[in-house]
Amino acid sequence: MKIAVTGANSSVGKNLLARLIEEDDVEVIAGVRSEKAFATLPGSTKITPRTIDYNDGAKLDQALDGADCLVHLAGILIETKHSNYANSNVAATAAVVMAAQRLGISRIVFISVIGASADSPNAYFRSKGIGERLVADAGIPGTVIRTPILLGPGTAGADALRAAASRGQTKVLGGGYYQQRPLDIDDLNEAILNSCLAQDDGVSTHELVGPEPTAYRDLIQRAADLLGVKVEVGKVPIWLAKLGAGVTSTLKGGGMTPTVIDVITMNEEVQQNAADALGVSLTPLQITLEKCLLKT
Ligand SMILES: NC(=O)c1ccc[n+]([C@@H]2O[C@H](COP(=O)([O-])OP(=O)(O)OC[C@H]3O[C@@H](n4cnc5c(N)ncnc54)[C@H](OP(=O)(O)O)[C@@H]3O)[C@@H](O)[C@H]2O)c1
Repeated sequence: MKIAVTGANSSVGKNLLARLIEEDDVEVIAGVRSEKAFATLPGSTKITPRTIDYNDGAKLDQALDGADCLVHLAGILIETKHSNYANSNVAATAAVVMAAQRLGISRIVFISVIGASADSPNAYFRSKGIGERLVADAGIPGTVIRTPILLGPGTAGADALRAAASRGQTKVLGGGYYQQRPLDIDDLNEAILNSCLAQDDGVSTHELVGPEPTAYRDLIQRAADLLGVKVEVGKVPIWLAKLGAGVTSTLKGGGMTPTVIDVITMNEEVQQNAADALGVSLTPLQITLEKCLLKT
């Protein structure tokens, strides 16, 4: 099976590629936006790196040609001067969906987020919800996987956790009382692979979260314990952080915004964890923390 991965140089993408090439009968088309990104991908003869231009249908078709399944990962939480929710989370999704239709690709797997909704008042959740709708309406069988904070090599969540735990005195949004359901990146990789191999018709939407709910402040303490350091978790008032983020993001044209702060501090709650439905045996949180903090 040939699996095309967009945003292959994302943190999720690099972890996924390393997992996919362990499968005997899987080859990967790794779609990235610039040739510079080729060097960041895992090296393997099973990976064909290709540049993707989301604004040019013909080039997009060339890049994805030959794929049986498309895993659409490209997408952002933090906007920049050049990447916003409209072009990265919505327009890029629309472009790959249309390419998949033209090319007759058999399945699409779309990585979304817990809280995604096309009707959300939050611009990030709304953009991912619109992306989900584009995939659901494509007429191509597939799977939408909504994920929480992801922990694994190079993920923003793991990097932020290590930094917060190593600081001695750390100040987090609202004191970090919000509940998270951190998911091991290896578990997401299994879910994506199983979704590529699935045979069912239609598009199903799943919420896949880690096994243990935890307040972010407790997660920091556990990380510090593992690293053998002491940490005091203090508080930045959320209203103050939003005020500062509103000003600096307007001046900089991106970065931390009130929208991002609302996403980060949301309680990650789900109706039903899709681990069984996606064929995933969830990694205990303690093991995940050991893997991402103690292994180099
Ligand atoms: N990390 C998490 O905890 C988490 C949680 C929930 C959902 N997700 C979802 O998982 C996916 C991967 O996340 P990640 O954290 O691994 O991402 P990441 O490391 O931040 O990488 C972002 C990816 O999006 C691409 N991108 C940026 N702007 C774009 C644009 N305008 N058009 C098309 N592509 C663009 C980037 O390409 P360039 O390098 O060329 O800019 C890169 O490949 C995303 O869809 C995200 O919403 C992640």
